[in-house]
Amino acid sequence: MRVLVTGGCGFIGANFIYYMLSKYPDVEIVNLDKLTYAGNLANLRPLEQGPDKERYFFVHGDIADPGAVSGIFEKFRIDAVVNFAAESHVDRSINDPAPFVTTNVLGTQNLLWTAQEKSVPRFVHISTDEVYGSLGAEGKFTESSSLAPNSPYSASKAAADMLVRAYHKTYAFPAVITRCSNNYGPYQFPEKLIPLMFKNAQEDKPLPIYGDGQNVRDWIYVTDHCLGVDLALRKGRPGAIYNFGGDAEKTNLEVVKTLLKQLGKPESLISFVKDRPGHDRRYAMDFSLARKELGFKPEHTFEQGLEKTLSWYRENQEWMQSVQSGAYLEFMKQWYEDR
Ligand code: NAD
Ligand code: DAU
Repeated sequence: MRVLVTGGCGFIGANFIYYMLSKYPDVEIVNLDKLTYAGNLANLRPLEQGPDKERYFFVHGDIADPGAVSGIFEKFRIDAVVNFAAESHVDRSINDPAPFVTTNVLGTQNLLWTAQEKSVPRFVHISTDEVYGSLGAEGKFTESSSLAPNSPYSASKAAADMLVRAYHKTYAFPAVITRCSNNYGPYQFPEKLIPLMFKNAQEDKPLPIYGDGQNVRDWIYVTDHCLGVDLALRKGRPGAIYNFGGDAEKTNLEVVKTLLKQLGKPESLISFVKDRPGHDRRYAMDFSLARKELGFKPEHTFEQGLEKTLSWYRENQEWMQSVQSGAYLEFMKQWYEDR
């Protein structure tokens, strides 16, 4: 099977490519990535030099560019598409929503259009729990919860989900949507909570917690998400939506305190800062449908996953330094100044 993975140089995409190539000797991957600030070719460099190099192809391009996408289908026979490519950071979407609409909405539309024209037999669209909005203290999101996105990021992801749904209804296109909770693990860009807190703690810098730190996220180790996407790719019902979660609800303060404890750093590094505008209070996922139909079950507890993640960041300090591009540092400076 040859799979077109988009956004494979980012955090989850890179983990997914390693996961698929190591699990299935008959799988080939074509990776289409625009190499934005979040895309890092070095994440997959070992593949280009190792024993799997015959099964891995990189194409530099934009999912919103019709020529780039159709060029891939002309060059390669594609058996399935997994669409990870996106602008993924909520804070950036608050500062500048336009690229989120371009990539997440128009890019998904372009990919869907070409894939259905080429009669691709399987399309998995990677979405997020954030499309459901925010929960109160009780309850969990199910696949039939209403969509109520609160940030430009989540609104663009919800719009893409609507297009995927419409392609299934209108063209009988065999697409599946997956919606996952917060991932953590190797290769995550240090603008997201866990790698940012790791980096600051290592440097004995303040750890900025938005608001009162009581916002709740359900944390899933990235390879457990990869397992879910693999199951959706192989067994997902066309037209279906599957929630994935890690069964690990934590407040942000709990996450940061656990991280500091594992790193042997003091809690005095914690610094409460102005809240994120429109900050969702709580996410929690009911993934019983994925358990029943796909056999999905996360394999890591939060403590196990966090230990693996922190070990990886400790052993890959060079990676952490290399992704600190000037553009990123500029963005962070502006972000803190705005607050
Ligand atoms: P990321 O920001 O780490 O990586 C995104 C990748 O997409 C990068 O390699 C980037 O270069 C590429 N990209 C961006 N725009 C592109 C374009 N127009 N054309 C081609 N490539 C482009 O993101 P991530 O955290 O790995 O998230 C991957 C997907 O999973 C996203 O769709 C995101 O919405 C979804 N998701 C993420 C999480 C999470 O916790 N990180 C949870 C649920 C769902
Ligand atoms: O829930 C899935 C989503 O998880 C994905 O769809 C997004 O792509 C991904 O970025 C992530 O979104 P979040 O906004 O939940 O992740 P982030 O790591 O930015 O923040 C996690 C929580 O921590 C959130 O409540 C905001 C808070 N936070 C974050 C940062 C970066 C802080 O308190 N301080 C920070 O410096």
